[in-house]
Amino acid sequence: MPRPLRAAIIGLGAAVPEKVLTNADFEKFLDTSDEWITQRTGIRERRIASEDQSTGTLGTIAAKNALADAKLTPQDIELIIVATVTPDMTMPSTACCIQNDLGAKDVPAFDIGAACSGFVYALSVAGKFIETGTYKRVLVIATETLSKFSDYTDRGSCVLFGDGAGAVVLEGTEDTDRGLLYSVLHADGNGWDFIHVPAGGSRSPASLETVGNREHYIKMRGRDVYKFAVEKMQWLLGDCMEKCSLTVDDIDMVVPHQVNSRIIQSAARKFNFPQEKVFVNIDIYGNTSAASIPLAMQQARDEGRIGPGSTLMLVAFGAGLTWAGAIVKL
Ligand code: UT7
Repeated sequence: MPRPLRAAIIGLGAAVPEKVLTNADFEKFLDTSDEWITQRTGIRERRIASEDQSTGTLGTIAAKNALADAKLTPQDIELIIVATVTPDMTMPSTACCIQNDLGAKDVPAFDIGAACSGFVYALSVAGKFIETGTYKRVLVIATETLSKFSDYTDRGSCVLFGDGAGAVVLEGTEDTDRGLLYSVLHADGNGWDFIHVPAGGSRSPASLETVGNREHYIKMRGRDVYKFAVEKMQWLLGDCMEKCSLTVDDIDMVVPHQVNSRIIQSAARKFNFPQEKVFVNIDIYGNTSAASIPLAMQQARDEGRIGPGSTLMLVAFGAGLTWAGAIVKL
């Protein structure tokens, strides 16, 4: 009788573009201020992809770093899942582009579009393939170049977004006290227009008119997203602890989607999480959508704040609307 498997994280990697866009840079071309952006969002700067960097190229670097961390090669991987809402192209999937760049020939590869919840969605899906014994090793990559879809004349949204990528290698383990212990996924399509890109899809194909009307850029109802994010983040923290019978003391680090430091802090306060147990790096990367959680995990590990044996709570929400949480033991 086969023993139950858990999906353990055996490799972690990240990649960010070199170019930094500071709040002061925005002051030069937008009616905004460093003070407004810092106070309302916690963001001081973000990374911006160059013309020759894409979601796929950043994702490939993050994937290579995760594979090196796991001491594996692309040939050891049996499935590639990419979480992104800023794909290289409408077709094929960015996962196929990355599979090709990695030289991971013939293994299945597909994208998941759950916006900022994408990494947790992808982790959960990858976990099922491993838990059922279908694949032993899965590469999950969350990669975004939001700058390429941001309207730099819209001060209500463009100041939030940055580019980056993070990746994890998951492997089946018989140690049931380790790996992805719990995940929960939700969506409410009724809020599809809270954050969306109106044109370029089948509802409104690209035309001179759609380009002229700036409809290929992200449109966001910031206040509505804010309220939704506060509510769902609180719900996710409560649900993950309740379903896994964990208390604040049992959690070593909450790694939230880096949405807005005010949203993160207000949810953490509700459960009395001490500040040092909530990882925030939105100040240097902004909101990188699906990539934000693995980017934060990488930094938390580099700073020695998480490591083998750490229990993490991952919480995310985003366009869709989607929201998702997970408990992971490293
Ligand atoms: O991953 C999900 C992605 N989405 C999000 O993360 C969005 C979540 N929402 C938020 O983080 C906040 O709603 C924002 C940061 C986007 C906006 O903050 P807010 O406190 O909700 O401001 P607001 O939209 O209520 O706007 C307040 C004022 C308005 O001016 P008036 O009407 O009071 O004169 C805006 O025009 O702030 C103005 N404003 C700005 N001022 C300077 C909006 N953006 C800016 C800006 N600089 N960049």
